[in-house]
Amino acid sequence: MRRYHVTTFGCQMNAHDSERIKGMLESLGLGEAPEQDEADVLVFNTCTIREKPDTRLAAHLGDAAARKRRRPDLVVAVGGCYAEAQRERIFERYPFVDVAFGPGSIPHLGEWITAGGYAVPRGRFGTHETFAATLPMHRERRFSAWVQVSMGCNSKCAYCIVPAVRGREQSRRPGEIVAEVEALARDGVRELTLLGQNVNSWGRDLAPELVTEFGELLRACDAVEGIERIRFTSPHPKDFREPVISAIAECDAVCEHIHLPLQSGSSRVLKAMRRTYSRERYLRLVGTLREAIPDLALGTDLIVGFPGETEDDFSETLEVVEAVGFDSAFTFVYSPRAGTEAAEMPDQIDGDVKRDRMERLVEVVQRVGAARNAARVGRVEEVLVEGPSRTDPMLLRGRTRRNTMVNFHGPAEPGSLVPVVIESATSTTLKGRERSLVAA
Ligand code: 5AD
Ligand code: SF4
Repeated sequence: MRRYHVTTFGCQMNAHDSERIKGMLESLGLGEAPEQDEADVLVFNTCTIREKPDTRLAAHLGDAAARKRRRPDLVVAVGGCYAEAQRERIFERYPFVDVAFGPGSIPHLGEWITAGGYAVPRGRFGTHETFAATLPMHRERRFSAWVQVSMGCNSKCAYCIVPAVRGREQSRRPGEIVAEVEALARDGVRELTLLGQNVNSWGRDLAPELVTEFGELLRACDAVEGIERIRFTSPHPKDFREPVISAIAECDAVCEHIHLPLQSGSSRVLKAMRRTYSRERYLRLVGTLREAIPDLALGTDLIVGFPGETEDDFSETLEVVEAVGFDSAFTFVYSPRAGTEAAEMPDQIDGDVKRDRMERLVEVVQRVGAARNAARVGRVEEVLVEGPSRTDPMLLRGRTRRNTMVNFHGPAEPGSLVPVVIESATSTTLKGRERSLVAA
């Protein structure tokens, strides 16, 4: 049997796309190879949100070219956002690439990659097709699953390449989504993460006779038997409306954790970014969420060094991180992307200044996160057990409803929900033991 290997870059949406890519290849009769070295078909599912993944990909493709010189029948396929952004240039730049395709063309994979090799035409870009629940999928995790609710994005964030590569927003129909959730639940899945580039604007492009409100979709998923936890990512602060907030508050399965990208704490920078909210509006939203959802954990994304960002603007970001008390944050150095509005802006920030701000930001993020986690010590948290700990084989690993990683003393079965007494904390993880092990 011919075998494939998929290397994935980027976000959860891309990781989920890889589950579809693998499913499609398996339906064509290929098997999975554990290493690139053992594969007859090498697929790279790429990302282009910042410059770093581009350079990592170039290194991988250099290796692939060397392999292909040794065995010319090797098929090399490049999919995902970088492929879409580069389109035909991929073949000019990397002439050994056989197949290239954008993220919206995965359902067509079988037209170019076959069990015997590859076929012409060699790929497709510019199509943006949503998945049908019936298309094959190779799930990476047993008890947790991603469910795509929409693709594309209608926002115009000045820094972001995503709308250019993933197209306009298209929502999957609610019946299609719920059917997939029901099938996952029957398959033993207990935790869902609903995915969309702008997940809480889901439904606005659907026919009015359907369910078209993200809060209602959360309620429909909550009603599916067997689903114990529901997460969603990423919502845009501008689209967080009351029905979504009350659905989170009222649905037992919807977790007390929201990833709410802030990007900058300065209203001036937010305006230049075209985020369409101010610092004050973001803080008001956080207040409303905290009031409606007790014990809420908040995560965020932050960018430093956006064009024109002054030292004062940057200090405002630090202030908001402290004021909100984020439980976790992904921090990024601004990376100009060709074709975006911000790449053309004057006042690009010097690399040393960006790196210095990044260091100071990470320090504050870690301090705030450590304090938030330290406050959990002594509490009992419900943990969804994933398996053995990655750092200590004597311990088990899982996540709380608030999405914090916990390493703990078992016993406990993977896939079960167990109470864990929290005994210590770092800025990103908790440690504890299953409640029955703690003397009353
Ligand atoms: N440079 C740096 N970070 C970026 N992000 C998006 N585009 C860029 C860019 N050009 C970050 C944002 C977004 C996250 C997925 O990536 O914070 O929320
Ligand atoms: Fe990019 Fe903004 Fe869309 Fe997020 S919402 S993907 S940051 S354009």
